Amino acid sequence: MNKFEGRNYCIVTYGCQMNVHESEKIRGELTSLGMIETEDVNKAMVVVFNTCCVREGAEDRAYNNIIALQNLKAENPDLIIVVCGCMPQQRKGKYNLWEKLPFVDIILGTYNISELSEYLLQFAKKKHRIMEILDKPRKDMDVENAVRDDKINAYVNIIYGCNKFCTYCIVPYVRGREQSRNPVDIYNEVKDLVQNKGYKYITLLGQNVNSYGKDLPDPMSFSQLLTQLCRIEGDFKIKFMTSHPMDLGDDLIKVMKEEPKMAKFLHLPVQSGSDAVLSRMNRHYNIKHYMHIIKRCRRLMPTISISTDIIVGFPGETEKDFNKTLKLLKRVKYDQVFAFMYSKRSGTPAANFEDQISEPEKKTRINKLLRLQKIIQQEENKKYFKHSYNCLIKQQNGVAIGITDGGKEIYLPNYKYYNQNYFAYIKVENIRNHKLSGVIDEHK
Ligand code: 5AD
Ligand code: SF4
Repeated sequence: MNKFEGRNYCIVTYGCQMNVHESEKIRGELTSLGMIETEDVNKAMVVVFNTCCVREGAEDRAYNNIIALQNLKAENPDLIIVVCGCMPQQRKGKYNLWEKLPFVDIILGTYNISELSEYLLQFAKKKHRIMEILDKPRKDMDVENAVRDDKINAYVNIIYGCNKFCTYCIVPYVRGREQSRNPVDIYNEVKDLVQNKGYKYITLLGQNVNSYGKDLPDPMSFSQLLTQLCRIEGDFKIKFMTSHPMDLGDDLIKVMKEEPKMAKFLHLPVQSGSDAVLSRMNRHYNIKHYMHIIKRCRRLMPTISISTDIIVGFPGETEKDFNKTLKLLKRVKYDQVFAFMYSKRSGTPAANFEDQISEPEKKTRINKLLRLQKIIQQEENKKYFKHSYNCLIKQQNGVAIGITDGGKEIYLPNYKYYNQNYFAYIKVENIRNHKLSGVIDEHK
């Protein structure tokens, strides 16, 4: 028996799906020590902060929450505090965690979490503070040991890092260069999740999934990987995120259309509607190219759900540039928009660009954009009317409900005791107060 067995741990996660999934791997590590999860930090022997540094706000929030544990640590010297994820990986970031947070016991980079249990055992023995930050994934990280939270959707990493160097983004500096996971490991993991663990959605993760496979000893494309995964038997669907518009080719759109196991969902960050801004962001595409992809997807898959990321207030963004972004939202009519105010990240080129936009101006712009998107989304509800969507059926408060690939809820008022957790087509028959309801479409 080790010192950790039967004791409680608590994980606090910030940031993207990648981090959510990494916290599942952290849970795997702590479970392997016999530990039990709690949401109450006061009960925990180990508290892990899995941090994000993509925007200053996320970083400040994590930092302040870690500082807030200082008193608890003073009262309970047995408490072990671990900080991992993107903040430590930044090295020269706003916060020097090692010096500024002397009460933190273990500091790990993004690629060291697979050894967390060993670091904890080592710390319990020697009581020396530990800091380990690897620059790239270790080879044996390909075999993963995640304990997942969600029982329906499972995240699976397929590629780590990013080679794109968008001028605003810190990710290439904290996650290193692109490194694809071995396709056999991915296949086996997906097969196990679907056939043994009953997962209905598999979401393949990477900063830029479209680059998948280029760096493998036997190179393969992302669309080839998807085709292989779609051969796995079972009632499940595949999603992926995130895609870069520059690398999203016709081969991928074809697989999405032709494979019934491919979810009709695409998250395609555009970042700005202005070509001038896109060029300064180093995004390598223009709006004409972006619209070409959107139109092709919609023509081939009329019910596809499309979402995006937008940055407002990028340095030098004029009122005219911003209006082009609003115009783009009106043209594309996204199902969902994730909008962010530009956040200066030290070490990235854009941090030194002239014409930084003031915070109040960024706020004004983001609010205007979100207001517009809300109206667009409400109007867009109409597009569902009389169309059929392949949905995952669930029970919610005693009523059956279908969830589309894009996450839209369609109520099934006539199906109180319908089977759960399987896919069926639902035809939308009614829209009231922005709520959709329908019936099972037996003809599909
Ligand atoms: N400021 C604001 N938003 C950013 N993103 C990345 N870096 C920054 C930054 N410095 C946004 C982009 C990306 C999403 C994950 O985060 O829109 O697609
Ligand atoms: Fe950041 Fe651009 Fe890479 Fe996305 S593609 S992670 S925005 S550098």
